Amino acid sequence: MTETLETLATEKLALFPEESNAHLPHRRHLIDLDDWTPYEVQRLLDRAAYMRDVLADPTRRLETLRGRLAVTLFYENSTRTRISFELAAKKLGADVTNMTAAASSVTKGESLRDTVETLQALGANILIVRSSQSGAPDVITRYFRGAVVNAGDGWRGHPTQALLDALTLQLRFGTLANRHIVIVGDILHSRVARSNIWSLTALGAEVVLCAPPTLTPPNVADAYTSRPVPGTGAQRRVTVEPRIERALEGADVVMALRLQRERQQAGLLPSLREYTMRYGLTMERLQLTKPCALVLHPGPMNEGIEIDPDVAHSAYSLVEEQVTNGVATRMAALEMIGLAMGTVGTAQ
Ligand code: NCD
Repeated sequence: MTETLETLATEKLALFPEESNAHLPHRRHLIDLDDWTPYEVQRLLDRAAYMRDVLADPTRRLETLRGRLAVTLFYENSTRTRISFELAAKKLGADVTNMTAAASSVTKGESLRDTVETLQALGANILIVRSSQSGAPDVITRYFRGAVVNAGDGWRGHPTQALLDALTLQLRFGTLANRHIVIVGDILHSRVARSNIWSLTALGAEVVLCAPPTLTPPNVADAYTSRPVPGTGAQRRVTVEPRIERALEGADVVMALRLQRERQQAGLLPSLREYTMRYGLTMERLQLTKPCALVLHPGPMNEGIEIDPDVAHSAYSLVEEQVTNGVATRMAALEMIGLAMGTVGTAQ
C-alpha cells in the first residue's frame, strides 16, 4: 500500500500551535541544528511521531522520495545510523545504495570532490554523509546539486541523532521545557553532545555538561549561551559541572556518551579504570537523580566503562527506543528534504 502526503495529517505531539509551523520553509540540506527554531524542531518531531505509525505497518510505503536515488556515503564505521537511514529512505519510496569508503576508490586516492561528482553523474539525488572531518557535509553542498544530510561529521554534529533523542524524550515527557538534562562523558570528542545541546536548549531544556576537565572543550557553555535560540531569541541554558554527584542531583535525564578512544590523544585520562570510577554511570549514582529519571546513550556502548550494564539494561534505559525512533526520525528528516526538492519531474 502506498500513500501520498495529503493523507498524513495526524500530529502526535504538536506542542506548538499549528499556525506557527504553517509557513516554515523546508530545508534542502540537513547539516546541523544550530540555526533551527523550536518550531522547526517540533514540526520534525511531530512528523517523526507520525512515522512511527507508518513503520508499525510493514506493508506501508510512502511516496515522498519516489524516483529519487539516495546514497549513503560513509567514511567511518557505523551500524545503526547507516541502516536506519537506509530503511527510512526505502520506506519513503527512494532507491538506496550504500558506499563505504573502505570498499571504494577512496582507498585509491580519490578526493571527496571526485567521489561526490561521480555519485552525481550516476544519478544520486540525496547524499547521506558520515565523515571523520568536521565540515565535510558543508563542503559537499558546494559540489553536489542535490541534497546533503549529515550523518555525523568529526566532532561537530550528528543532527538526526539529536532529533531522535529529543523524540524519545518527548514521547515520555511531553514537553522538554525546564527539564534538567545531564550529558555525561567525553564531551570534547562528541558530535552527539554538540547537536543535542542545540536542539535540547531550543526546546527549553536546561543542559548540564559533566566531564573531566581534559574532556570538556574550553568555554563550552559560552559557545552556546552566546547564541540565542533562533525564532524566539531565548537564552540557551547550558552549564558545566565536572563533579558527577552534583550534576546528577535532580536530573530528569542522563545522557551517557561513549568514550571515543579512537579520537583521543594519549594523556587525556590517567586510566580507564580511574575514568569509570569517577564518571561511570552506575545504579548507585542514578539514585541521585529524580526518581523516574531516564537514561539515554547513542550507542555503541562501552558497557562497564561509561555505563554499567545494570543501568544500560534497566527499566530507566531508553537505548532500544532510541534505535527504533532513529528510523522514524530519519524518515521525517528525509521527508523534509524531499519536500524542499519537490516531486520528481520538477526542477531540483
Ligand atoms: C555516535 C556517532 O557515531 O557519532 N553513534 C551513533 O551514531 N549512534 C556516537 C559514538 O560513536 O559514540
